[in-house]
Amino acid sequence: MARELTFRIFRYNPDEPGNKPFLQDFHVTEEPRMTLFVVLNKLREEQDPSLRFDFVCRAAICGSCGMLVNGRPTLACKTLTKDLPQETTLMPLPVFKLLGDLSVDTGVWFRDISLKTESWIHNDDPFDEQAQEARMDNELALRIYEAERCIECGCCIGGCATANIKPNFIGAAGVNRVARFMLDPRDKRTDQEYFEVVGSEDGIFGCIGLMACDDNCPIGIPLRDQLTYVRRKMAATGWRMGKK
Ligand code: SF4
Ligand code: SF4
Ligand code: FES
Repeated sequence: MARELTFRIFRYNPDEPGNKPFLQDFHVTEEPRMTLFVVLNKLREEQDPSLRFDFVCRAAICGSCGMLVNGRPTLACKTLTKDLPQETTLMPLPVFKLLGDLSVDTGVWFRDISLKTESWIHNDDPFDEQAQEARMDNELALRIYEAERCIECGCCIGGCATANIKPNFIGAAGVNRVARFMLDPRDKRTDQEYFEVVGSEDGIFGCIGLMACDDNCPIGIPLRDQLTYVRRKMAATGWRMGKK
């Protein structure tokens, strides 16, 4: 027999003066292979058209549906109701600007991180349109690709203790971004230049290392390895510079 599921959902419209946050209960009959994407759309279509949440791809690709599901940051489109208890609480990801209900603005946060970490190849070589593609060792290309897989969902940030108390902390997603460029031989930044970007309490030295980010990344980016790689490199650089 199909379960009657209860979803306790955070409601708040920050743009409406006097509006106060509250939790609202909704009830849905479970269907086979039902995901939270299906549940939330059903609720919006059949029970409350004002319910706000974000989805684009429904396939763990776009990164827009990150939320706290019973306290754990994850992608709603990837979450099957069969893996949830009868009662589930849905909250928006913390850290990011709340737009309304379960919808947060991860875009501004990630754009800011791109600027802070200077997420582009730093190379003064003159552009040569006839040049062949730079060749790269397969193993190295795969390591860079691993970091590139980040879908900017914000789950590693929402569950990070440091990011929740330090608004300028770049978090595991930011460190992963830096690792991607550190690994790339086409980026000519020196270790000292990277230290200026990430060698601080808002960067790698603000990380307390409990690895909630690694546990919460829904697409399995090896964040533990990325944090270790950047920490080691920056600790050695700081020591050489007499800063750590
Ligand atoms: S290991 Fe570091 S980056 Fe990851 S959740 Fe903990 S403090 Fe945040
Ligand atoms: S590293 Fe993982 S959890 Fe963090 S933003 Fe990227 S995909 Fe999401
Ligand atoms: S809707 Fe795109 S990741 Fe969930």
